[in-house]
Amino acid sequence: MACSMDVGTYNLVFCRRNEEGNFTYNRQVNAFLEMPLENRFVFDMMKQAGVPLIELEKRAYALGEAAVEMTYTMSALELKRPMTHGCVNPKEKDAFQIMSIMMHNLIEGVKKDGEILYYCVPANAVNQDTDADYHQRILQAIFNAYKNETGYRVDAHPINEALALVYAELGKKAFTGIAASFGAGMINVCYAMYGSPVFSFAIVNSGDWIDRQAAKATGESISFINKEKTKIDLSKSPNNLIERAIHTQYRLMIEHTVNGLKKGFSDINKSVRTDGEIDVVIAGGTSSPNGFTEIFKETLGGVELPIKIGNVIKPADPLYSVSRGCLIAAESSSKWKERQRMKYNQRSVSDLGAAAYLLMHDLKVVGRKGRDIFFVVDPKHAVEHFDQLTLDYLSSEFHRFDACIMSLKKIGEYNFNPQNYRFVTDLGAAAYILMHKYKVVGKRGKAIYFEVDDVVADKFDEIALEYISSDFHRFDSCLMSLKKIGEYISEQSWKN
Ligand SMILES: Nc1ncnc2c1ncn2[C@@H]1O[C@H](COP(=O)(O)OP(=O)(O)OP(=O)(O)O)[C@@H](O)[C@H]1O
Ligand SMILES: [Mg+2]
Repeated sequence: MACSMDVGTYNLVFCRRNEEGNFTYNRQVNAFLEMPLENRFVFDMMKQAGVPLIELEKRAYALGEAAVEMTYTMSALELKRPMTHGCVNPKEKDAFQIMSIMMHNLIEGVKKDGEILYYCVPANAVNQDTDADYHQRILQAIFNAYKNETGYRVDAHPINEALALVYAELGKKAFTGIAASFGAGMINVCYAMYGSPVFSFAIVNSGDWIDRQAAKATGESISFINKEKTKIDLSKSPNNLIERAIHTQYRLMIEHTVNGLKKGFSDINKSVRTDGEIDVVIAGGTSSPNGFTEIFKETLGGVELPIKIGNVIKPADPLYSVSRGCLIAAESSSKWKERQRMKYNQRSVSDLGAAAYLLMHDLKVVGRKGRDIFFVVDPKHAVEHFDQLTLDYLSSEFHRFDACIMSLKKIGEYNFNPQNYRFVTDLGAAAYILMHKYKVVGKRGKAIYFEVDDVVADKFDEIALEYISSDFHRFDSCLMSLKKIGEYISEQSWKN
C-alpha cells in the first residue's frame, strides 16, 4: 500500500486506493482563522456544530473550509493561509503548527509502519524569489513527525508537482509530455520524457493573484472575488466589471505560462528533439472554468515552439489529478523497493521439493507468489549457500523421493485382488517403500499396494516404520506445510 498528499497553497488533498483499487480523496482547505478564546461559549457551540477547531496557547483556530465560510459571511474576519506562492509562508508564525495538524488529520488508513507517501513540491519560481528547498524541508519534517494511534509512521518522499501530473495523465503516452498545474499560488510546469523531467519551472501569480488583481480593479473583497471566480465562464463574453476583471487576469496568466514554456524550450536549446506530437495536460483548480482549455490552446498556437503540440488534455477532476499522480509515483516506487528487496534479501524457487529441502536446511520462508516460494537470505553470505542447496537437492535422495511421490499420485485405480498384497495409506511412506525397490501393484482409495514375498514381509513393516523417524518424513511434512502457504510475501528481510 502507498498513499500521497498534494500540499497546495489552497488545498491539501490526501489520496489512496480503496480495496477495489479506486482512488479515494480527503480534501481540506489550507486556511485558518484566529479567534479570541475569551468567549468560551461561542467556541464550544462552534465545536458542537462540527466546525474543526483547535486551541493553541490560549488562542482558538477554525480550520479549513469552515474558516473560508466564516470570512465570507463576516468580512471583518481575516482568513489566514499557512502557504503563499506555493511555499510555506515564512511570515505566518503559526503556519508550521497549523499545517502539521491539518496534514496529520488528513492522513488515514496507514496499516503498516513506513508506508510510502509521496507529496508534491513546487519548482522555484522564475518571476519571484521563492525557497522551494526550505518549503520541502518543512513538509518533510511534518511527515516525519506523523504517527498514527498504532504507532505507524509514513516514509515520505517529494515529487515535483507538474511531474506528478505527467504521472497521473500521461501513462498511455509513456509518461512523455508537458504538464501545467494551475494552482492558487503558482503555475507549475514540467516537460517530461519517459517519466524524467527535461525541464520544470514555476510562475508565481495564479488563482490567488487573479483574486487579488480583480479585487483591486473592482474594489471588492478578495474572498468575494474568490467565490465569483468559481462561477466564471471564459467561453462567454464578460457581462460586468467583475467578470471583465477576472477574464483579463485569466488571459494574462495564460500568456505568462505559454511564454515561460517557450523560454524553457529555448533554454534547453536543441538538445531535445521529438518527431511525434507532444500532449499537454492542464489541471489544478484555476484551470476549472469552462473555456479555459480553448484560451490555452489559442495562446499556445500563437507561439513558435520546437515541438509539435498534440492534444491538450484537461482531466475531469482538475483539483485531484496532482494527488493521484503523487500516488502513482508512490506505488511505482514501493514496487521498485519490493523488487530491490527481493533481489538482495529474498530468493525464490518454483519447485516445491527444492523449497522443502531448503526449509529442512533451516532457511526461512517468507511467502509465496504464484508457484514461487520466497526465502529470506543473508545478502552477504547466504546467497551462495542458498544456490548450493538448490543444486544439491537435484542430486539428492530427496529429489528421488519427491519423484516417487509424484508418480504414485498418478496411479489410477484398476481391478486387482488386494488380498495377496501389503499396503500403506501414507503417500510419503509409499514413496519411501518404492525407493526400497518394492513393486507397486495398485491403488484402492488412499491405500497403495505392494508386492511382498512372504520371506521379506517383516522387512516391509520395518521399512514402513523406519520411514516415520526418517528425514524423508520431515521432508514430506515440509512439503505439506509449504502447500498451505497463501499468496502472500511478508515484509521481512534479512536483519544483521
Ligand atoms: N471552479 C473553479 N473556478 C475557478 N477557480 C477555481 C475553481 N475551483 C477552485 N478554483 C481555484 O483554484 C485554486 C486552487 O486550486 P488547487 O487546489 O489546484 O491549488 P493548490 O494546489 O492549493 O495551489 P498551488 O499548487 O499553487 O500551491 C484556488 O485559487 C481556487 O480559487
Ligand atoms: Mg497545486
